[in-house]
Amino acid sequence: MKTPFIAPSILAADFANIQSEVEMLNTSEADWIHVDVMDGVFVPNISFGIPVCKAIHRYAKKPLDVHLMIEKPENYVEKFKNAGADIISVHYEACPHLHRNLQQLKDLGVQAGVGINPHTRVNLLRDIIHEIDLVCLMSVNPGFGGQSFINGTYDKVRALRNIIDEAGAGTKIEVDGGVTIDNAKQLLDAGADVLVAGSFVFRSENPADTISRLKNV
Ligand code: DX5
Ligand code: ZN
Repeated sequence: MKTPFIAPSILAADFANIQSEVEMLNTSEADWIHVDVMDGVFVPNISFGIPVCKAIHRYAKKPLDVHLMIEKPENYVEKFKNAGADIISVHYEACPHLHRNLQQLKDLGVQAGVGINPHTRVNLLRDIIHEIDLVCLMSVNPGFGGQSFINGTYDKVRALRNIIDEAGAGTKIEVDGGVTIDNAKQLLDAGADVLVAGSFVFRSENPADTISRLKNV
């Protein structure tokens, strides 16, 4: 089986010790650092914004995978790129002109991602799949860490894998929300490439070891 990318979500880290949390990720088997930005409008919660992204970037030796759960992301993506983002996902549901958003991300020189909520059909991405580097497929309703995984996600991963493979696109599938060692293997078998894990990593006794277990599941 292919080896997944692991993207621990810094949302579940100890913000009072962000430097040591990022340094732990640097020396772990994590591939990316997932950065969850929430605006209190697109989702019913506020997390953090550009200055915190910049602080994470100051210590990070791994790519920052910035997940924008915000309205009007086009007004902020350049600022996040300047704050260190390597991959930026905007939400399908926040972008009536998604093709234009993807173009904007490419023009900025970051990898272009699209987040989709649990109720959004993966089919809606079919016509623009070649423009998308990463689909951040939500396996919980965005807005909070620590929620339970929605079981319907496996079918969505399979359906999206078919769309990508039929189109011959190189799009990666990232699964975000409620990921643990109990569903990781099934997600990879269904066709996922990247696993985001927040609480499962940071609430465990040995986060680096938990990352390794996910990586080698
Ligand atoms: C949810 C975020 C997720 C979340 C994952 O809105 O997009 O990235 O932090 O955290 P866990 O793994 O705790 O569900
Ligand atoms: Zn996320």
